[in-house]
Amino acid sequence: MPTLTWNRHEWDHRYGWAGRGDEWSAPWGGPEAQWQRCVYPRIARFLPTGTILEIAPGFGRWTQFLLGQCESYVGVDLAERCVATCTERFAGQDHAQFFVNDGLSVPMVADSTVDFAFSFDSLVHCEQDVVGAYLRELRRVLAPTGVAFLHHSNLGVYRRTTALVDAVGRALSPFSARARNGVQLWNYWRGQSVTADRFVELCAAADLTCVSQEVINWVGRGPLLLDCISVVTQPGSRWDQPLIRTTNRRFSAAARSSAAAAQLFLAR
Ligand SMILES: C[S@@+](CC[C@H](N)C(=O)[O-])C[C@H]1O[C@@H](n2cnc3c(N)ncnc32)[C@H](O)[C@@H]1O
Repeated sequence: MPTLTWNRHEWDHRYGWAGRGDEWSAPWGGPEAQWQRCVYPRIARFLPTGTILEIAPGFGRWTQFLLGQCESYVGVDLAERCVATCTERFAGQDHAQFFVNDGLSVPMVADSTVDFAFSFDSLVHCEQDVVGAYLRELRRVLAPTGVAFLHHSNLGVYRRTTALVDAVGRALSPFSARARNGVQLWNYWRGQSVTADRFVELCAAADLTCVSQEVINWVGRGPLLLDCISVVTQPGSRWDQPLIRTTNRRFSAAARSSAAAAQLFLAR
């Protein structure tokens, strides 16, 4: 179960960051290809905009593209190392600010000031307490017409598989910690308590409206619907609509055609 303590330790100390996180885009042909073919088409209708809040930018894999889409940008990450790197990497961008946060809240952001909140490939590693806390903060900081695009876990739908794999991992641990870790990596450390349904309940509890959900698989994990991308808005905003949910088991297949196209482009 990826707790706040696990996330802080993982991203501040254990993970090497040798590739700045760009390595996670390799199946798509690199960060630019993934941005153009996977991320940007899903958020194009919300951009360009005034103020963007990015939750958990890491080393700035998506920040580099978001910065050109806004008048002001705030990035918050619980890992000091990530904030230090982004501060240095984007030093020339006067409209950008980066803050270390507590992993739950954004006190540095004023009420009703965020036009677009974004988080991709980060909140998947968080449990419902963290997701719920951020949703309550988004209720406070989103502008009346604001909208949030949040990539989170759906692992909770595989509760039985998770319990079984955890039991196998525990059984292996006296013999090999490496084997145990390998087994437990099957879900890429997704939050176990979060599902698409639970996310909608958390939105309602925060008095936000979840207007769309794309339940997706993830590269390397076959047809398992480990993740979900949700769009959230203030009730009554121009983005408000009854929830539309789609299941996209071809999400990760798109990576292959993206990588093939990127390769052709790079070869020119
Ligand atoms: C897998 S990295 C992804 C970073 C970036 N979004 C990307 O796609 O390259 C996960 C990031 O989430 C951050 N993170 C994890 N839990 C967080 C939380 N509760 N609040 C803020 N940042 C968090 C980590 O510090 C790390 O930078």
